[in-house]
Amino acid sequence: MPSQIIIIAAITMNGYIARHSHEIISWSKDLPLFKKQTLGHPIIMGSNTKKTILNDLKGREIIVFHRSDKPKEILDKINGDICFVVGGGKTNAIFYQYATHLYITPHHLIFNKGIPLFDGEINEKKFKLINTIPYLPNEGIFQYQYKII
Ligand SMILES: NC(=O)c1ccc[n+]([C@@H]2O[C@H](COP(=O)([O-])OP(=O)(O)OC[C@H]3O[C@@H](n4cnc5c(N)ncnc54)[C@H](OP(=O)(O)O)[C@@H]3O)[C@@H](O)[C@H]2O)c1
Repeated sequence: MPSQIIIIAAITMNGYIARHSHEIISWSKDLPLFKKQTLGHPIIMGSNTKKTILNDLKGREIIVFHRSDKPKEILDKINGDICFVVGGGKTNAIFYQYATHLYITPHHLIFNKGIPLFDGEINEKKFKLINTIPYLPNEGIFQYQYKII
């Protein structure tokens, strides 16, 4: 299992990652940062998210999670030290118990309903802020990197 399992997401001010399961995310401003950080590492995503991806994600192995898969078995098969869990909400919740880090980029939006960052049952955990990336500081877009403790 990788020593770093990083959940990464763009979120609204009220904790949503999409308006609905099939939304193609066009409001995220930090896609280039996502590409740079995930390049060369396996990325795990749910089947709904796979259907919404229009951009090519070359340079990284894409692992599509299905409900019949066992998250630990998927993680155990990964050879590298780092992998990313890139959504959506159901997949984030399923992999949360194994995650070591959370990278979130809040956007200046509120949705009245949608897909939460974790769409499923999760346990309470504590987070330590380890890094802040001023991606578009003039627009107030920062990525917050947390270690899960
Ligand atoms: N803002 C961001 O950073 C960001 C990042 C990624 C995605 N998104 C958005 O998130 C949305 C998709 O999120 P999502 O939560 O709907 O889907 P998802 O996590 O991408 O995919 C759903 C996953 O849950 C499984 N599943 C479905 N029903 C289940 C059940 N009853 N029990 C157990 N597992 C079940 C599915 O398996 P099966 O394949 O077997 O059905 C699939 O693996 C899209 O709009 C996408 O654009 C946003």
